[in-house]
Amino acid sequence: MICIPIVDATHQEALRSIERSAPAEDAIELRMDLIADGELPRLIACARRISGRVRIIVTCRRREEALPPASLEHTERRKNIPRTMKMRLLKQAIELGADYVDIELAEGEKSISELRRFCEKNGNRTQLIVSWHDIEKTPSLKELKTIFNACADAGADVVKIVPYARRLGDNIRVLNLIDYAKGRHRKIISMCMGELGQVSRIIAPLWGSYLAFAVLPGGGKSAPGQLSVKAMKEFRQLLRRQQPFPQAWLLPPGAMNFILVGNPVRQSLSPVMHNTALEALKIEGHYSAFCVMDPAAAVAGIRGMNIRGASVTIPFKTAVMDFLDEIDPDASAVGAVNTIVNECGRLSGYNTDWWGLTRALKDKTKIAGKTFVVLGAGGTARSAVYGIKKEGGRPVIVNRTADKGKELAAMFDCPFYPLESLGGIKAHGLINTTSVGMYPQADQSPVAPELLTDYRVVMDVIYNPLCTRLLQDAAAAGADIVSGAEMFVYQGAQQLKLWTGRQAPLELMRKTVYERLKKSEKRHQGKK
Ligand code: ATR
Repeated sequence: MICIPIVDATHQEALRSIERSAPAEDAIELRMDLIADGELPRLIACARRISGRVRIIVTCRRREEALPPASLEHTERRKNIPRTMKMRLLKQAIELGADYVDIELAEGEKSISELRRFCEKNGNRTQLIVSWHDIEKTPSLKELKTIFNACADAGADVVKIVPYARRLGDNIRVLNLIDYAKGRHRKIISMCMGELGQVSRIIAPLWGSYLAFAVLPGGGKSAPGQLSVKAMKEFRQLLRRQQPFPQAWLLPPGAMNFILVGNPVRQSLSPVMHNTALEALKIEGHYSAFCVMDPAAAVAGIRGMNIRGASVTIPFKTAVMDFLDEIDPDASAVGAVNTIVNECGRLSGYNTDWWGLTRALKDKTKIAGKTFVVLGAGGTARSAVYGIKKEGGRPVIVNRTADKGKELAAMFDCPFYPLESLGGIKAHGLINTTSVGMYPQADQSPVAPELLTDYRVVMDVIYNPLCTRLLQDAAAAGADIVSGAEMFVYQGAQQLKLWTGRQAPLELMRKTVYERLKKSEKRHQGKK
């Protein structure tokens, strides 16, 4: 969370700063000790009118704890507010629904618990920041921990500890302090003031500091060393680029979480594909893969942890259906869910596999009125048969095990032939949904090359390798070929649309997936 301090000398100037800051960032801090004629109700009303989501911190800093940067010459205009007036102002902030009020540890236990009780009386809408500053130095980590505990024990919802950096090593102390607070599940805002403390201003938010202070162009700083919002964001982006999967706890409030539910998931390309897409769409969110043991518990977790969306993969595509509130008719007809959307705790199941498969096929051929052999009779075959029928095509099922093939054929009212009859079937295209030819059996094919001469198009749902033996043989026989990677990208793009309502950056997702697959193919070849 980035917070912009409002430090103007007059009420009118403060209003103008709020107008610029409130829509731009997550939070503003009204420094009532600096805004000479600041009228708190009007300042808060102005911020609320401009942005429904901006968090408001109200602070009235003691003289001894705030060091103005020399250039700002705040010292003369800092109001020396007596304790009673300060308490009245902070209580007014609570009554006005400020999100946070900041009180120094030095104000004493009595004042802090008085404010604590006042927050409770007002429905705990306002959180208490108990702060401590040292404008000259950074104490040892041991002392910092003692101060942290004193702030926490005093009743802080958020502890704020900001010392002054005299040497670079001081930054490490506050980072260690953040670790200490995280270990106790406490919210902390910590960084070092001063030029040498700028490193901590960049790193601390990534490390877990609850918020960071930064200024807009032309805006006033409230402490020495504060960076511009632009610089903070550029640094953040640079650091994120170096770690392509930021940890979930680094996500700002309101960010969306997405997960993959499957077992195994280690080789999945969904995380890299979706995270790249989220970044390109500038959606604050993260996609992580979970190797799941219990699908019921995983679905409860999606609901309980307010996870916006999930992909579901082998072996849970059917199992999760029992635990959802609603199943989309297409998913219901396919009998499998590969996508879950969470609308405020209500979970809906969709299937984007059939859509991805037909969409990929349609890049190479018309489906309507044409016959397609579907090889296999498992879950993916169900998606293929459903998709082809939905597009007006005629699927013919061919499977090794007759019973399974017949069952699928009966379900979708289409013909079934045993594997041995494949050569006698006349069809426009063939789709392999079996795992034959998948790495490490990349030299195998489910169909002998001499049986491929009559197909105009051949698709393989396998994407590892990108061009399977089946596809190589089909291309050599003159057919158009479709890799499973295409289906994978299209089904993912459709998932992203269901979760976010946004059009997926298809080309970027395709490029990401193909690059990864080519890299892993190179690795495999290197091992041979
Ligand atoms: P998925 O959910 O990916 O479709 P699945 O439900 O396990 O996976 O189905 C795999 C399909 O590939 C099955 O139809 C299977 O044939 P059987 O019904 O005879 O088991 C088929 N399959 C797997 N290995 C095969 C092989 N070596 N030769 C022919 N078919 C194979």
